[in-house]
Amino acid sequence: VNKVKVALLGLGNVGTGVWKILNTNKEEIRRRSGYDIEIAKILVRDKSKKRNVEVPEELLTDNADEVFNNDEIRIVVELMGGVEPAYEYMMRAIKSKKHLVSANKMVIATKGEELIGAAAEAGVMFYYEASVGGGIPIIHGINESLTANKIEEVVGIINGTTNYILTKMSLEGLSFDTALKGAQEKGFAEADPTSDVEAYDAMYKLAILASLSFGAKINLDSIYREGITKIESVDIAYAKELGYTIKLLAIGKDNDGVLELRVHPAMIPSTHPLANVNNSFNAIFIRGNAIGDLMLYGKGAGDLPTGSAVVGDIISILRNNIDLAPSNDINNQSTTVKYSPMEETKCEYYIRLSVRDLPGTFGEIATILGKNGVSLSSVIQKGKGEEFVPLVFVTHGTKEANLNRSLEEMKNMPAIYKIDNVIRVENL
Ligand SMILES: NC(=O)c1ccc[n+]([C@@H]2O[C@H](COP(=O)([O-])OP(=O)(O)OC[C@H]3O[C@@H](n4cnc5c(N)ncnc54)[C@H](OP(=O)(O)O)[C@@H]3O)[C@@H](O)[C@H]2O)c1
Repeated sequence: VNKVKVALLGLGNVGTGVWKILNTNKEEIRRRSGYDIEIAKILVRDKSKKRNVEVPEELLTDNADEVFNNDEIRIVVELMGGVEPAYEYMMRAIKSKKHLVSANKMVIATKGEELIGAAAEAGVMFYYEASVGGGIPIIHGINESLTANKIEEVVGIINGTTNYILTKMSLEGLSFDTALKGAQEKGFAEADPTSDVEAYDAMYKLAILASLSFGAKINLDSIYREGITKIESVDIAYAKELGYTIKLLAIGKDNDGVLELRVHPAMIPSTHPLANVNNSFNAIFIRGNAIGDLMLYGKGAGDLPTGSAVVGDIISILRNNIDLAPSNDINNQSTTVKYSPMEETKCEYYIRLSVRDLPGTFGEIATILGKNGVSLSSVIQKGKGEEFVPLVFVTHGTKEANLNRSLEEMKNMPAIYKIDNVIRVENL
Protein backbone atom coordinates (compact mmCIF):
# COMPACT_ATOMS: atom_id res chain seq x y z
CA VAL A 1 0.00 0.00 0.00
CA ASN A 2 1.27 3.45 -0.93
CA LYS A 3 1.26 6.37 1.44
CA VAL A 4 0.10 9.86 0.57
CA LYS A 5 0.28 13.05 2.58
CA VAL A 6 -2.65 15.43 2.56
CA ALA A 7 -3.11 18.87 4.14
CA LEU A 8 -6.40 20.34 5.32
CA LEU A 9 -6.96 24.10 5.22
CA GLY A 10 -9.56 24.45 7.97
CA LEU A 11 -10.80 22.20 10.76
CA GLY A 12 -14.31 23.55 11.26
CA ASN A 13 -17.53 21.64 10.54
CA VAL A 14 -16.41 20.06 7.32
CA GLY A 15 -12.76 19.58 8.29
CA THR A 16 -13.90 17.70 11.40
CA GLY A 17 -16.15 15.49 9.24
CA VAL A 18 -13.25 14.72 6.91
CA TRP A 19 -11.00 13.83 9.86
CA LYS A 20 -13.67 11.50 11.30
CA ILE A 21 -14.35 9.73 8.00
CA LEU A 22 -10.65 9.20 7.27
CA ASN A 23 -10.31 7.56 10.68
CA THR A 24 -13.55 5.58 10.82
CA ASN A 25 -13.38 4.24 7.26
CA LYS A 26 -9.61 3.80 7.11
CA GLU A 27 -9.75 0.19 5.92
CA GLU A 28 -12.34 0.78 3.18
CA ILE A 29 -10.52 3.87 2.00
CA ARG A 30 -7.21 1.99 1.84
CA ARG A 31 -8.81 -0.80 -0.17
CA ARG A 32 -10.63 1.51 -2.54
CA SER A 33 -7.89 4.04 -3.15
CA GLY A 34 -4.81 1.87 -2.81
CA TYR A 35 -3.39 4.41 -0.37
CA ASP A 36 -2.92 5.06 3.30
CA ILE A 37 -3.95 8.68 3.65
CA GLU A 38 -2.00 10.65 6.19
CA ILE A 39 -3.16 14.10 7.26
CA ALA A 40 0.23 15.78 7.50
CA LYS A 41 -0.79 19.38 8.31
CA ILE A 42 -3.95 21.28 9.23
CA LEU A 43 -4.06 25.02 8.76
CA VAL A 44 -6.31 26.88 11.25
CA ARG A 45 -6.70 30.45 12.50
CA ASP A 46 -6.43 29.68 16.18
CA LYS A 47 -4.28 26.72 17.27
CA SER A 48 -5.46 26.90 20.87
CA LYS A 49 -9.14 26.56 20.04
CA LYS A 50 -10.91 23.51 21.46
CA ARG A 51 -11.61 21.00 18.66
CA ASN A 52 -14.43 18.44 18.36
CA VAL A 53 -11.93 15.76 17.38
CA GLU A 54 -8.69 14.72 18.96
CA VAL A 55 -5.94 15.90 16.66
CA PRO A 56 -2.22 15.63 17.52
CA GLU A 57 -1.08 19.11 18.41
CA GLU A 58 1.89 19.10 16.03
CA LEU A 59 -0.44 18.77 13.01
CA LEU A 60 -2.07 22.14 13.62
CA THR A 61 -0.45 25.25 12.21
CA ASP A 62 -1.40 28.85 11.63
CA ASN A 63 1.39 29.31 9.10
CA ALA A 64 0.35 28.54 5.51
CA ASP A 65 4.01 28.20 4.41
CA GLU A 66 4.21 24.97 6.38
CA VAL A 67 1.71 23.50 3.94
CA PHE A 68 2.92 24.96 0.66
CA ASN A 69 6.64 24.58 1.28
CA ASN A 70 6.27 20.92 2.18
CA ASP A 71 6.94 18.93 -1.01
CA GLU A 72 5.70 15.72 0.56
CA ILE A 73 2.16 17.06 0.69
CA ARG A 74 0.50 15.98 -2.57
CA ILE A 75 -3.12 17.02 -2.00
CA VAL A 76 -4.49 20.19 -0.43
CA VAL A 77 -8.09 20.23 0.80
CA GLU A 78 -9.52 23.73 1.20
CA LEU A 79 -12.29 23.85 3.85
CA MET A 80 -11.95 27.40 5.11
CA GLY A 81 -14.74 29.27 3.33
CA GLY A 82 -14.81 32.85 2.04
CA VAL A 83 -13.00 34.18 -1.01
CA GLU A 84 -9.76 35.45 0.55
CA PRO A 85 -7.38 34.08 1.63
CA ALA A 86 -8.95 30.82 0.40
CA TYR A 87 -8.44 31.74 -3.27
CA GLU A 88 -4.84 32.78 -2.73
CA TYR A 89 -4.10 29.50 -0.92
CA MET A 90 -5.82 27.45 -3.62
CA MET A 91 -3.71 29.13 -6.28
CA ARG A 92 -0.59 28.53 -4.20
CA ALA A 93 -1.49 24.86 -3.91
CA ILE A 94 -1.96 24.57 -7.67
CA LYS A 95 1.28 26.41 -8.43
CA SER A 96 3.19 24.14 -6.07
CA LYS A 97 1.77 21.20 -8.11
CA LYS A 98 -0.48 19.92 -5.37
CA HIS A 99 -3.83 18.42 -6.33
CA LEU A 100 -6.74 20.37 -4.93
CA VAL A 101 -10.11 19.60 -3.35
CA SER A 102 -12.51 22.28 -2.14
CA ALA A 103 -16.00 22.63 -0.68
CA ASN A 104 -16.05 26.39 -1.18
CA LYS A 105 -18.99 27.40 -3.40
CA MET A 106 -18.24 31.09 -3.02
CA VAL A 107 -14.73 30.81 -4.48
CA ILE A 108 -15.74 28.36 -7.18
CA ALA A 109 -18.73 30.47 -8.29
CA THR A 110 -16.62 33.62 -8.47
CA LYS A 111 -13.14 32.33 -9.40
CA GLY A 112 -13.84 28.87 -10.81
CA GLU A 113 -12.60 29.67 -14.30
CA GLU A 114 -9.23 30.92 -13.03
CA LEU A 115 -8.81 27.92 -10.75
CA ILE A 116 -9.78 25.34 -13.37
CA GLY A 117 -7.50 27.03 -15.93
CA ALA A 118 -4.56 27.20 -13.51
CA ALA A 119 -5.03 23.56 -12.46
CA ALA A 120 -5.09 22.40 -16.10
CA GLU A 121 -1.96 24.39 -16.82
CA ALA A 122 -0.12 23.04 -13.78
CA GLY A 123 -1.26 19.49 -14.54
CA VAL A 124 -3.03 18.96 -11.23
CA MET A 125 -6.52 17.68 -10.48
CA PHE A 126 -9.13 19.94 -8.93
CA TYR A 127 -12.41 18.53 -7.56
CA TYR A 128 -15.20 20.30 -5.72
CA GLU A 129 -18.08 17.86 -5.26
CA ALA A 130 -18.98 19.21 -1.78
CA SER A 131 -19.54 22.75 -3.03
CA VAL A 132 -23.11 21.99 -4.17
CA GLY A 133 -25.59 19.80 -2.33
CA GLY A 134 -23.13 18.69 0.39
CA GLY A 135 -23.06 14.91 0.26
CA ILE A 136 -25.23 14.58 -2.86
CA PRO A 137 -23.08 13.38 -5.81
CA ILE A 138 -24.45 16.03 -8.15
CA ILE A 139 -21.23 17.34 -9.69
CA HIS A 140 -19.80 13.94 -10.59
CA GLY A 141 -23.36 13.07 -11.65
CA ILE A 142 -23.54 15.91 -14.17
CA ASN A 143 -19.90 15.67 -15.28
CA GLU A 144 -19.74 11.92 -15.65
CA SER A 145 -22.93 9.86 -15.45
CA LEU A 146 -25.08 12.40 -17.31
CA THR A 147 -22.46 13.72 -19.67
CA ALA A 148 -24.13 12.09 -22.69
CA ASN A 149 -27.15 14.35 -22.22
CA LYS A 150 -28.04 17.81 -23.28
CA ILE A 151 -29.34 19.14 -19.98
CA GLU A 152 -32.39 21.28 -20.49
CA GLU A 153 -33.34 22.18 -16.97
CA VAL A 154 -32.01 22.03 -13.40
CA VAL A 155 -34.30 22.86 -10.50
CA GLY A 156 -33.01 22.49 -6.99
CA ILE A 157 -33.64 22.98 -3.32
CA ILE A 158 -29.99 23.63 -2.55
CA ASN A 159 -30.00 25.58 0.67
CA GLY A 160 -30.72 23.54 3.79
CA THR A 161 -31.18 26.51 6.13
CA THR A 162 -33.99 28.12 4.17
CA ASN A 163 -35.59 24.74 3.52
CA TYR A 164 -35.56 24.05 7.26
CA ILE A 165 -37.18 27.44 7.97
CA LEU A 166 -39.84 27.04 5.28
CA THR A 167 -40.60 23.48 6.45
CA LYS A 168 -41.11 24.67 10.05
CA MET A 169 -43.33 27.51 8.84
CA SER A 170 -45.32 25.13 6.69
CA LEU A 171 -45.68 22.07 8.92
CA GLU A 172 -45.67 23.69 12.36
CA GLY A 173 -47.17 27.08 11.57
CA LEU A 174 -44.16 29.00 12.91
CA SER A 175 -43.45 32.58 11.87
CA PHE A 176 -40.32 33.33 9.84
CA ASP A 177 -38.57 34.87 12.87
CA THR A 178 -39.36 31.96 15.21
CA ALA A 179 -38.33 29.40 12.60
CA LEU A 180 -35.06 31.25 11.96
CA LYS A 181 -34.31 31.41 15.68
CA GLY A 182 -34.94 27.66 15.99
CA ALA A 183 -32.64 27.01 13.04
CA GLN A 184 -29.89 29.07 14.69
CA GLU A 185 -30.31 27.22 18.00
CA LYS A 186 -30.03 23.86 16.24
CA GLY A 187 -26.95 24.97 14.30
CA PHE A 188 -28.70 24.92 10.91
CA ALA A 189 -28.35 28.70 10.50
CA GLU A 190 -25.44 31.01 11.17
CA ALA A 191 -25.57 33.93 13.61
CA ASP A 192 -25.63 36.18 10.54
CA PRO A 193 -28.10 34.33 8.30
CA THR A 194 -27.94 36.79 5.37
CA SER A 195 -26.12 34.52 2.94
CA ASP A 196 -28.77 31.83 3.37
CA VAL A 197 -32.03 33.76 3.81
CA GLU A 198 -31.20 36.29 1.10
CA ALA A 199 -30.27 33.38 -1.21
CA TYR A 200 -26.65 34.31 -1.95
CA ASP A 201 -25.58 30.77 -1.01
CA ALA A 202 -28.13 29.26 -3.40
CA MET A 203 -27.06 31.73 -6.11
CA TYR A 204 -23.41 30.57 -5.88
CA LYS A 205 -24.49 26.95 -6.06
CA LEU A 206 -26.77 27.61 -9.04
CA ALA A 207 -23.87 29.31 -10.84
CA ILE A 208 -21.79 26.13 -10.38
CA LEU A 209 -24.64 23.82 -11.42
CA ALA A 210 -25.47 25.93 -14.46
CA SER A 211 -21.86 26.19 -15.60
CA LEU A 212 -21.54 22.39 -15.57
CA SER A 213 -25.01 21.64 -16.93
CA PHE A 214 -24.97 24.16 -19.75
CA GLY A 215 -21.24 24.34 -20.49
CA ALA A 216 -21.02 28.06 -19.88
CA LYS A 217 -19.07 30.44 -17.73
CA ILE A 218 -21.78 32.01 -15.60
CA ASN A 219 -21.77 35.66 -14.71
CA LEU A 220 -23.26 35.98 -11.20
CA ASP A 221 -24.95 39.25 -12.16
CA SER A 222 -27.06 37.35 -14.65
CA ILE A 223 -28.75 35.33 -11.89
CA TYR A 224 -31.94 36.83 -10.52
CA ARG A 225 -31.87 36.48 -6.72
CA GLU A 226 -34.60 36.91 -4.14
CA GLY A 227 -34.56 35.52 -0.57
CA ILE A 228 -37.31 34.20 1.69
CA THR A 229 -37.57 37.02 4.26
CA LYS A 230 -40.84 38.37 2.88
CA ILE A 231 -42.69 35.05 3.13
CA GLU A 232 -45.35 35.30 5.83
CA SER A 233 -47.34 32.59 7.61
CA VAL A 234 -50.46 33.81 5.83
CA ASP A 235 -48.82 33.15 2.43
CA ILE A 236 -48.01 29.61 3.54
CA ALA A 237 -51.65 29.14 4.55
CA TYR A 238 -52.97 30.43 1.20
CA ALA A 239 -50.43 28.27 -0.64
CA LYS A 240 -51.82 25.21 1.15
CA GLU A 241 -55.38 26.19 0.30
CA LEU A 242 -54.37 26.47 -3.36
CA GLY A 243 -52.58 23.09 -3.32
CA TYR A 244 -49.05 24.50 -3.25
CA THR A 245 -45.96 24.35 -1.04
CA ILE A 246 -43.49 27.24 -0.83
CA LYS A 247 -39.82 26.38 -1.45
CA LEU A 248 -36.71 28.38 -2.22
CA LEU A 249 -35.90 27.18 -5.73
CA ALA A 250 -32.78 27.56 -7.81
CA ILE A 251 -33.80 27.30 -11.44
CA GLY A 252 -31.60 27.02 -14.50
CA LYS A 253 -33.02 26.51 -17.98
CA ASP A 254 -31.42 26.38 -21.37
CA ASN A 255 -34.02 27.82 -23.74
CA ASP A 256 -32.40 27.08 -27.11
CA GLY A 257 -29.09 28.58 -26.12
CA VAL A 258 -30.49 31.40 -23.99
CA LEU A 259 -30.03 30.78 -20.28
CA GLU A 260 -32.66 31.58 -17.70
CA LEU A 261 -31.17 31.60 -14.19
CA ARG A 262 -33.06 32.54 -11.07
CA VAL A 263 -33.23 31.86 -7.34
CA HIS A 264 -36.40 32.83 -5.51
CA PRO A 265 -39.17 31.45 -3.33
CA ALA A 266 -41.84 29.73 -5.37
CA MET A 267 -45.12 27.91 -4.88
CA ILE A 268 -44.90 24.43 -6.35
CA PRO A 269 -47.65 21.79 -6.52
CA SER A 270 -47.73 19.92 -3.21
CA THR A 271 -47.77 16.66 -5.19
CA HIS A 272 -44.39 17.33 -6.85
CA PRO A 273 -41.47 15.35 -5.37
CA LEU A 274 -39.61 18.61 -4.59
CA ALA A 275 -42.52 19.72 -2.36
CA ASN A 276 -41.79 16.80 -0.05
CA VAL A 277 -38.11 17.60 0.40
CA ASN A 278 -38.25 18.80 3.98
CA ASN A 279 -36.13 20.16 6.80
CA SER A 280 -32.47 20.56 5.94
CA PHE A 281 -32.58 18.04 3.07
CA ASN A 282 -31.60 19.11 -0.44
CA ALA A 283 -32.76 17.80 -3.79
CA ILE A 284 -31.84 18.52 -7.36
CA PHE A 285 -34.17 17.78 -10.21
CA ILE A 286 -32.63 17.49 -13.66
CA ARG A 287 -34.19 17.12 -17.08
CA GLY A 288 -31.88 15.73 -19.74
CA ASN A 289 -32.78 14.94 -23.34
CA ALA A 290 -31.83 11.28 -22.94
CA ILE A 291 -32.35 10.54 -19.24
CA GLY A 292 -35.66 12.40 -18.96
CA ASP A 293 -36.47 13.47 -15.40
CA LEU A 294 -34.10 12.63 -12.58
CA MET A 295 -33.98 13.68 -8.94
CA LEU A 296 -31.13 13.39 -6.46
CA TYR A 297 -32.07 13.72 -2.79
CA GLY A 298 -29.96 13.80 0.35
CA LYS A 299 -28.18 15.79 2.99
CA GLY A 300 -26.86 19.06 1.64
CA ALA A 301 -24.84 20.00 4.71
CA GLY A 302 -23.37 18.74 7.96
CA ASP A 303 -19.92 17.46 8.87
CA LEU A 304 -20.24 13.82 7.76
CA PRO A 305 -22.39 14.24 4.61
CA THR A 306 -20.15 17.05 3.36
CA GLY A 307 -17.04 15.18 4.49
CA SER A 308 -18.27 12.19 2.49
CA ALA A 309 -18.10 14.24 -0.73
CA VAL A 310 -14.70 15.71 0.19
CA VAL A 311 -13.12 12.33 0.97
CA GLY A 312 -14.73 10.94 -2.20
CA ASP A 313 -12.85 13.63 -4.15
CA ILE A 314 -9.57 12.74 -2.43
CA ILE A 315 -10.10 9.10 -3.38
CA SER A 316 -10.93 10.08 -6.98
CA ILE A 317 -7.58 11.85 -7.17
CA LEU A 318 -5.76 8.81 -5.77
CA ARG A 319 -7.47 6.46 -8.20
CA ASN A 320 -6.14 8.50 -11.09
CA ASN A 321 -2.39 8.51 -11.22
CA ILE A 322 -1.32 11.31 -8.88
CA ASP A 323 2.06 11.50 -10.61
CA LEU A 324 0.63 12.12 -14.07
CA ALA A 325 -1.02 15.25 -15.34
CA PRO A 326 -4.77 14.63 -15.66
CA SER A 327 -6.09 14.10 -19.15
CA ASN A 328 -9.74 14.75 -18.38
CA ASP A 329 -9.70 18.51 -17.96
CA ILE A 330 -11.74 19.29 -21.02
CA ASN A 331 -12.64 22.91 -20.91
CA ASN A 332 -15.85 22.94 -22.86
CA GLN A 333 -17.16 26.16 -21.43
CA SER A 334 -18.43 28.83 -23.73
CA THR A 335 -17.86 32.40 -22.64
CA THR A 336 -20.31 33.92 -25.10
CA VAL A 337 -23.46 33.15 -23.19
CA LYS A 338 -26.84 34.74 -23.73
CA TYR A 339 -29.11 35.26 -20.73
CA SER A 340 -32.79 36.04 -20.79
CA PRO A 341 -33.67 39.06 -18.65
CA MET A 342 -36.05 38.49 -15.73
CA GLU A 343 -38.67 40.71 -17.40
CA GLU A 344 -38.91 38.10 -20.18
CA THR A 345 -39.36 35.17 -17.78
CA LYS A 346 -42.74 33.54 -17.94
CA CYS A 347 -44.32 32.48 -14.66
CA GLU A 348 -47.62 32.23 -12.92
CA TYR A 349 -48.01 34.58 -9.98
CA TYR A 350 -49.69 34.57 -6.60
CA ILE A 351 -50.69 38.10 -5.61
CA ARG A 352 -51.98 39.03 -2.16
CA LEU A 353 -53.59 42.42 -1.68
CA SER A 354 -55.34 44.31 1.10
CA VAL A 355 -58.27 46.09 -0.50
CA ARG A 356 -61.09 48.33 0.65
CA ASP A 357 -64.29 46.32 0.63
CA LEU A 358 -66.00 48.45 -2.04
CA PRO A 359 -68.19 47.34 -4.92
CA GLY A 360 -66.39 47.23 -8.25
CA THR A 361 -62.89 46.79 -6.81
CA PHE A 362 -62.37 43.32 -8.18
CA GLY A 363 -63.67 44.35 -11.61
CA GLU A 364 -61.23 47.23 -11.72
CA ILE A 365 -58.30 44.95 -10.87
CA ALA A 366 -59.36 42.40 -13.46
CA THR A 367 -59.48 45.17 -16.07
CA ILE A 368 -55.94 46.32 -15.28
CA LEU A 369 -54.65 42.76 -15.47
CA GLY A 370 -56.54 42.00 -18.69
CA LYS A 371 -55.24 45.15 -20.36
CA ASN A 372 -51.68 44.02 -19.58
CA GLY A 373 -52.15 40.51 -20.87
CA VAL A 374 -52.55 38.83 -17.47
CA SER A 375 -55.44 36.41 -16.90
CA LEU A 376 -56.55 34.83 -13.64
CA SER A 377 -56.73 31.16 -12.75
CA SER A 378 -58.03 31.43 -9.17
CA VAL A 379 -59.28 33.99 -6.69
CA ILE A 380 -59.74 33.80 -2.93
CA GLN A 381 -61.62 36.56 -1.19
CA LYS A 382 -62.18 36.40 2.54
CA GLY A 383 -63.67 38.66 5.19
CA LYS A 384 -66.46 41.14 4.77
CA GLY A 385 -67.45 44.38 6.37
CA GLU A 386 -63.98 45.25 7.66
CA GLU A 387 -62.21 48.30 6.31
CA PHE A 388 -59.54 46.22 4.54
CA VAL A 389 -60.04 42.68 3.33
CA PRO A 390 -57.48 40.32 1.83
CA LEU A 391 -57.80 39.49 -1.85
CA VAL A 392 -55.66 36.72 -3.26
CA PHE A 393 -55.38 35.59 -6.83
CA VAL A 394 -53.22 33.39 -8.98
CA THR A 395 -52.57 34.30 -12.60
CA HIS A 396 -52.05 32.11 -15.63
CA GLY A 397 -48.56 32.11 -17.11
CA THR A 398 -47.43 35.54 -18.25
CA LYS A 399 -44.25 37.50 -18.76
CA GLU A 400 -42.81 39.18 -15.69
CA ALA A 401 -42.93 42.51 -17.57
CA ASN A 402 -46.74 42.21 -17.91
CA LEU A 403 -47.09 41.51 -14.23
CA ASN A 404 -44.88 44.44 -13.24
CA ARG A 405 -46.87 46.85 -15.42
CA SER A 406 -50.10 45.61 -13.80
CA LEU A 407 -48.68 46.04 -10.30
CA GLU A 408 -47.57 49.60 -11.09
CA GLU A 409 -51.09 50.48 -12.21
CA MET A 410 -52.66 48.80 -9.19
CA LYS A 411 -50.52 50.89 -6.87
CA ASN A 412 -52.46 53.93 -8.10
CA MET A 413 -55.88 52.42 -7.36
CA PRO A 414 -57.49 54.09 -4.34
CA ALA A 415 -59.35 50.86 -3.49
CA ILE A 416 -56.06 49.00 -3.01
CA TYR A 417 -54.57 49.68 0.38
CA LYS A 418 -51.47 47.55 -0.10
CA ILE A 419 -49.88 44.95 -2.35
CA ASP A 420 -48.85 42.61 0.45
CA ASN A 421 -46.92 40.00 -1.47
CA VAL A 422 -46.20 38.55 -4.89
CA ILE A 423 -44.82 35.01 -5.14
CA ARG A 424 -44.02 33.12 -8.32
CA VAL A 425 -45.88 29.88 -8.95
CA GLU A 426 -43.99 27.11 -10.75
CA ASN A 427 -46.24 24.39 -12.07
CA LEU A 428 -43.37 21.93 -12.32
N1 LIG B 1 -20.88 23.33 6.96
C1 LIG B 1 -21.41 22.64 5.95
O1 LIG B 1 -22.29 21.82 6.17
C2 LIG B 1 -20.92 22.85 4.55
C3 LIG B 1 -21.52 22.15 3.50
C4 LIG B 1 -21.04 22.29 2.20
C5 LIG B 1 -19.99 23.14 1.96
N2 LIG B 1 -19.45 23.85 2.99
C6 LIG B 1 -18.32 24.74 2.70
O2 LIG B 1 -17.16 24.23 3.34
C7 LIG B 1 -16.32 25.29 3.75
C8 LIG B 1 -16.05 25.18 5.25
O3 LIG B 1 -17.25 25.27 5.97
P1 LIG B 1 -17.33 24.99 7.54
O4 LIG B 1 -18.77 24.97 7.88
O5 LIG B 1 -16.51 23.81 7.88
O6 LIG B 1 -16.67 26.32 8.12
P2 LIG B 1 -16.15 26.62 9.60
O7 LIG B 1 -16.78 25.67 10.55
O8 LIG B 1 -16.30 28.06 9.81
O9 LIG B 1 -14.59 26.25 9.54
C9 LIG B 1 -13.65 27.04 8.88
C10 LIG B 1 -12.25 26.56 9.25
O10 LIG B 1 -11.29 27.28 8.47
C11 LIG B 1 -10.33 27.89 9.33
N3 LIG B 1 -10.01 29.20 8.77
C12 LIG B 1 -10.87 30.16 8.36
N4 LIG B 1 -10.20 31.23 7.90
C13 LIG B 1 -8.90 30.95 8.02
C14 LIG B 1 -7.69 31.67 7.73
N5 LIG B 1 -7.73 32.89 7.23
N6 LIG B 1 -6.52 31.06 7.99
C15 LIG B 1 -6.47 29.82 8.51
N7 LIG B 1 -7.57 29.09 8.80
C16 LIG B 1 -8.77 29.66 8.56
C17 LIG B 1 -10.99 28.03 10.69
O11 LIG B 1 -9.99 28.04 11.70
P3 LIG B 1 -10.36 28.11 13.27
O12 LIG B 1 -11.03 26.81 13.56
O13 LIG B 1 -9.07 28.22 13.97
O14 LIG B 1 -11.27 29.29 13.42
C18 LIG B 1 -11.89 26.79 10.73
O15 LIG B 1 -11.18 25.68 11.21
C19 LIG B 1 -17.02 26.57 3.34
O16 LIG B 1 -16.55 26.97 2.07
C20 LIG B 1 -18.46 26.15 3.23
O17 LIG B 1 -19.20 26.95 2.32
C21 LIG B 1 -19.89 23.71 4.27
